[in-house]
Amino acid sequence: MKNLLNKKILLIICGGISAYKSLEIIRSLKKSNAQVKTILTKSAKKFITPLSVTSLSKEKVYDDIFSVENESEMDHISLSRWADLILVAPITANTISKLSSGASDDLASTVILASDKEIYLAPAMNVRMWEHQSTKENINKLKNYGYKIIGPDIGDMACGEFGKGKMSEPNEILQQIELYFKNKKNNKKFKALVTAGPTREYIDPVRFISNQSSGKQGYEIAKSFRDNGFETTLISGQTNLDPISGLNFIKVETAQEMFDQTIKNLPADVAIFTAAVSDYKVSNYKNKKIKKKENLNLSLEKNIDILNNISKHNSLRPKLTIGFAAETNDIVDNSLRKLEEKNCDWIIANDVSDNSIGFDSDENQISIFYKDKKNENLKKMSKSLVASEIVNRVIKKLN
Ligand code: CTP
Repeated sequence: MKNLLNKKILLIICGGISAYKSLEIIRSLKKSNAQVKTILTKSAKKFITPLSVTSLSKEKVYDDIFSVENESEMDHISLSRWADLILVAPITANTISKLSSGASDDLASTVILASDKEIYLAPAMNVRMWEHQSTKENINKLKNYGYKIIGPDIGDMACGEFGKGKMSEPNEILQQIELYFKNKKNNKKFKALVTAGPTREYIDPVRFISNQSSGKQGYEIAKSFRDNGFETTLISGQTNLDPISGLNFIKVETAQEMFDQTIKNLPADVAIFTAAVSDYKVSNYKNKKIKKKENLNLSLEKNIDILNNISKHNSLRPKLTIGFAAETNDIVDNSLRKLEEKNCDWIIANDVSDNSIGFDSDENQISIFYKDKKNENLKKMSKSLVASEIVNRVIKKLN
């Protein structure tokens, strides 16, 4: 598996009969010349020994969050930063439950909670445990956090029952991990640009016209491009979100500034315009603070339409130009109109009349309108998952 060469994999092994298969995972990773560090949970040590793990990984096994020796050598934060990817195989129903509630009561859960890396989970448990509503809800939560779930498979179980719950075979797990690194490497040749958040149109030095956009969806899309290997630029209006590392992050205020930065950072292979750009700007801007006693007559003029300009630009139009449409009514008609009028390849629409989704919420429900095929309605999910659904479709299209 050539895409695993020199990759740093942190393998976390939880307690379950399939822990013995993790030894095979370590062996294969080492054969592919990956570096492997391992954490064994307390119960994992009842199934396999640290000695067998260390013999295969050629590295020490980490197991105790309160170990003076570990913390001085590589503390739990450094351990999660060291990894290119974290794989938890097998992961038990108990650890799934802990991760879904953000618990951090041992080294494994603390390292995962502190991680900013890709996390893959390979569950293994009895079929009834897997099918239990609580496990289902926990897994859904983890998917929404962006964790990737591999398996489980259907088959005979160690407990004598038959059904879904067997850990996927080591080869299948490794193939999925290799695919992640392969995609990341292939996508390095692509450039992505994302606009996000609201713009501000100043009335005087301290007052402006703006809107409710939180920027969350655009930020998640930019993160997903970055995580998939794209050279990414995020041009953001003023939001309460933290800047994102690992990409070209540009903060702007007005639509004109957003437009100028967009032009400056093109060409790109794909551009997604999620920003809620103010349609109007103030044409009688006062450069001193307006006083109450003055008669205020706001005069507005149409703002520059960034998407419209770029999508009709002779030389700078990205191969894949994607607009957003936040609508309160007539979603289909409005989206199809924008698709055509704004010369887009796709329009991603969401219904902002539903307060549980859209603007400030962490969830979204989108429909994608394509120029060249039938539209798709996606189910309601976290904005992070919506972002990876969109970016996966972009990757398919660009390839
Ligand atoms: N957009 C833009 N510049 C503008 C207005 C909108 O780049 N001045 C982009 C948005 O980022 C989004 C798309 O155009 O990708 C649609 O934005 P939206 O506000 O939904 O549409 P409008 O053009 O404002 O049309 P309408 O007022 O009819 O909804």
